[in-house]
Amino acid sequence: MSSFESTFPTRIVYGYRSVDRVGLEARRIGLKGRCMLVTGRSFARSSGYLDRIKSILEAEGYDVYVFDRVKPNPTIVDVEDGVNQARAIGIDFFVAFGGGSAIDTAKMVSVASSLGGSIEDYLYPRIVDEPIKPVVAIPTTCGTGSEVTRYAIVTIGFRKLIIAGWSLVPRIAILDPETLRFLPADQVAYTGVDALTHGLEAYFNRNASILSDIYAIEAIRVVLRNLEDACKGLMEAKAMLLYGSMNGGFAINMTGTTMIHGGGYYLTAKYGLPHGLANALILLPILKLNMEAQSDRAIKLASILGLPAFDFKNASSSILEAIASIMDRIGIPVGLEAAGIPIEDIGRIAEEALTYRRNLENNPRSLGLDELVDVFRSVYRSRGV
Ligand SMILES: [Fe+2]
Repeated sequence: MSSFESTFPTRIVYGYRSVDRVGLEARRIGLKGRCMLVTGRSFARSSGYLDRIKSILEAEGYDVYVFDRVKPNPTIVDVEDGVNQARAIGIDFFVAFGGGSAIDTAKMVSVASSLGGSIEDYLYPRIVDEPIKPVVAIPTTCGTGSEVTRYAIVTIGFRKLIIAGWSLVPRIAILDPETLRFLPADQVAYTGVDALTHGLEAYFNRNASILSDIYAIEAIRVVLRNLEDACKGLMEAKAMLLYGSMNGGFAINMTGTTMIHGGGYYLTAKYGLPHGLANALILLPILKLNMEAQSDRAIKLASILGLPAFDFKNASSSILEAIASIMDRIGIPVGLEAAGIPIEDIGRIAEEALTYRRNLENNPRSLGLDELVDVFRSVYRSRGV
């Protein structure tokens, strides 16, 4: 339980208006030449951030090329589009501005444009440990943690596949709470639950260690305390979520995720559910099973969170109730049915979940097809506990 390895190569700059330091920070770590600003189609432009970041980088002497074609849940084709441009221009480093999809796209474009071939050549279980062109990440959502993680996710057909390796960790993460000011409440809710899920999956995990626990517990504590206020638009609470989400990223960097993510991927790839919502819909019954497998740790977590914890049953139900209650208050829909998923698909959904071997291996409770079918049935019209 207590052996661990850890590498945290990211310089983190956290604070209001820290976006203004992007040029200075890039210069400080010695970045040179041509930069690709990787972002989505609308928010970066409409908010004025695109022009602002571009001028800041240009004032620092960088040539800036904008790639604003990032799509949610990027596919191989989306990544190749960026790779072709990066190769044609001769890009030296990347600045990603956006949610997990923008940051993941920048990481993958960097991998393929630095190392050659297609991004498909680098799918896990291959580990990317060769140096790649640096990525500077500026998150504008509060959940993925991608700004500090060694992962990027690409969608192929109805599968979410992973590119992994310490080379993918951004060199600089600029965490400016101001970028969250206009994030809609439902996206605060979904991405915030994603961060909470990262904390819970890193804590209840076969790879958990004394160090990953620190980050995992901090992510869980901070998200539970601030998510509701953040959804109401309180800036200080959004700022704390950005911090909580970073901690979730640190935690899963060490442990990987478990079957909450493993079960959620197909719901996103097949039915288009936002990543955080997919996790939220199936979170509670899988968490319940995992807490049974690590009951002492459940008691410890409940007591750290200040929840009733006089025995395992009490601790487990107080954790589940605390999470369910927050999900109710921030308007997370209940059940797969409300998300438009046909009941006859449940067998297929469970089979797809079983294909995420890495997540299964990390999961404290061993899960087979029958158990997964039960999990998905239990969340068809309820939160499943
Ligand atoms: Fe996630």
